[in-house]
Amino acid sequence: MSTGQTAEGTTVVVTGAGGGIGAALARRFAAQGARVVVNDLDADKARRTAEEIGAIAVPGDASTVVGAARDALGGTIDVYCANAGLGSGGSESAPEDVWAAAWDVNVMAHVRAARELLPDWLERGRGRFVSTVSAAGLLTMIGAAPYSVTKHGALAFAEWLSLTYRHRGIQVHAICPQGVRTDMLADTGTAGDLVLKPTAIEPDEVADALFAAMAEDRFLVLPHPEVADYYTARAATPDRWLTSMNHLQQKWEASAG
Ligand SMILES: NC(=O)c1ccc[n+]([C@@H]2O[C@H](COP(=O)([O-])OP(=O)(O)OC[C@H]3O[C@@H](n4cnc5c(N)ncnc54)[C@H](O)[C@@H]3O)[C@@H](O)[C@H]2O)c1
Repeated sequence: MSTGQTAEGTTVVVTGAGGGIGAALARRFAAQGARVVVNDLDADKARRTAEEIGAIAVPGDASTVVGAARDALGGTIDVYCANAGLGSGGSESAPEDVWAAAWDVNVMAHVRAARELLPDWLERGRGRFVSTVSAAGLLTMIGAAPYSVTKHGALAFAEWLSLTYRHRGIQVHAICPQGVRTDMLADTGTAGDLVLKPTAIEPDEVADALFAAMAEDRFLVLPHPEVADYYTARAATPDRWLTSMNHLQQKWEASAG
């Protein structure tokens, strides 16, 4: 798919597409005429979504899906949406396995997919890598150190891919929403109640934002446009930004009793 075109005939893989944002992305691509692989670790969810939207289910870990997905799509993947993610909460004291799982799914699954996709994409001179990051990758999320750190990693990797390969026909998009009404948001507890739920949007609105960004070949996808101002403030006046985030932290501590 090149700039401004619809997804007709394009081959697309969406990881973590058994529900939430991934299902909305897969549904939108399918509605545009793409041939879509729906991946999810939860095989039943992957099959249900695939059936619903006329896609192909390839269940399993997002880290190892490229080969099977490429076979299912007849040999090529045009668009890869690295969407599967873990909403790992906790502080520096979160257990080692929580940090490791967040690193594995939120960052290394993207790296491993890119490793398998790039040789073919560079040979063909085109390919599109869509990373579902989070506003937490540009900013942070109170109460969720593993999530914030690994989403910064996912953004850093997407940026690196974009700047390294854009002259060779590779397009990269980083989707950075705040709250989106999915199972993950429901699990964010009182921190989510405070900072995410009041401005939460629907998964379909994330798909709208991605398609608008693809039409413009724009890297940053901000379904909540106000995130651009927060990102600017963070860069321009870091201590002021940290103080305001600390106020939010204190508000959260007070509300949690
Ligand atoms: N919901 C939000 O508020 C929000 C905001 C910003 C970013 N995001 C990001 O959006 C992405 C999708 O999350 P969502 O909100 O739709 O949550 P979700 O929980 O509805 O969907 C995530 C899906 O990923 C699957 N999954 C988990 N680990 C996997 C793995 N290793 N391999 C394959 N599938 C796996 C889960 O089974 C689940 O179906 C995540 O990367 C998340 O961090 C979500």
